[in-house]
Amino acid sequence: MQVRGATALVTGASAGIGAAVAGLLAERGAAVLVHGRDAGRTAAVADGIGGRPIVADLATAEGVDALAAAAEAVDVLVLNAGAGHAGPFVEMPADRIEELLALDLTGAIRLTRVLLPGMLARGRGRLCFVSSIAGRTGVAGEAVYAAAKAGLDAFAESLRLELAGSGVGVSVVVPAVVDTGFFESRGRPYDRRSPRPLPARAVAAAILSAVERDRAEVFVPGWTRLAPTVRALAPAAFRRLSLRYGEEVRSR
Ligand SMILES: NC(=O)c1ccc[n+]([C@@H]2O[C@H](COP(=O)([O-])OP(=O)(O)OC[C@H]3O[C@@H](n4cnc5c(N)ncnc54)[C@H](OP(=O)(O)O)[C@@H]3O)[C@@H](O)[C@H]2O)c1
Repeated sequence: MQVRGATALVTGASAGIGAAVAGLLAERGAAVLVHGRDAGRTAAVADGIGGRPIVADLATAEGVDALAAAAEAVDVLVLNAGAGHAGPFVEMPADRIEELLALDLTGAIRLTRVLLPGMLARGRGRLCFVSSIAGRTGVAGEAVYAAAKAGLDAFAESLRLELAGSGVGVSVVVPAVVDTGFFESRGRPYDRRSPRPLPARAVAAAILSAVERDRAEVFVPGWTRLAPTVRALAPAAFRRLSLRYGEEVRSR
């Protein structure tokens, strides 16, 4: 798909991966709608790239509907807004569970439900969902986040099949560890040596490539595709390795 001249909405574009992909889309000649929750950060990114800021809280149904109404006709929708939560599941407050699922899963599905009919009517469009390796592997201490991302993967895969031949492509980008404010806001810094955190622009480039070439799935970095492959082919070995990682999380 030609990004030049298209209207692109990037959710969670006030920081991190979303800000990087909004910048790349603007460089390629798209009209970019820069969504964020924080008004100041959203305006700063929009000003920097010549985009239009839209502020909405996507953990609420009202926020999703307000964003969809403000965005109108969108050709490229990057569903990137998201947050994590780190810590033992039994200590997770019930309202935090609801908030995380609303933002990371149902908010993206609901926004797609509102904006997709316009793409289908125009016979062209791209949906790109930013998932996580956590949703492909499971991670101790991040059960609800991993569940939300696994749900997003299944939704996107199903939609891709359903929309085949419609002119609307569906992609999933699966980052591993990216150097953004994500870890600070989830409540635990990233302190493992591998995989090394990548710059946000590496994921942004993968998103752009997925949109332009209608790629079903892109892992960033590419070698992390091995994790779900080993999980499928040698599940016992995979779980032993995961437990070792999990113990590190549980001991915090
Ligand atoms: N960083 C990683 O290692 C990593 C790895 C795998 C997947 N991911 C995924 O990548 C995506 C982007 O994360 P990031 O790393 O760029 O994190 P980030 O720098 O923390 O950015 C998160 C973005 O989501 C927005 N957001 C958070 N809560 C929101 C809410 N309730 N309503 C609307 N917007 C909200 C933030 O807006 P404000 O700043 O305006 O609040 C911000 O623009 C997420 O879906 C995340 O799960 C990240």
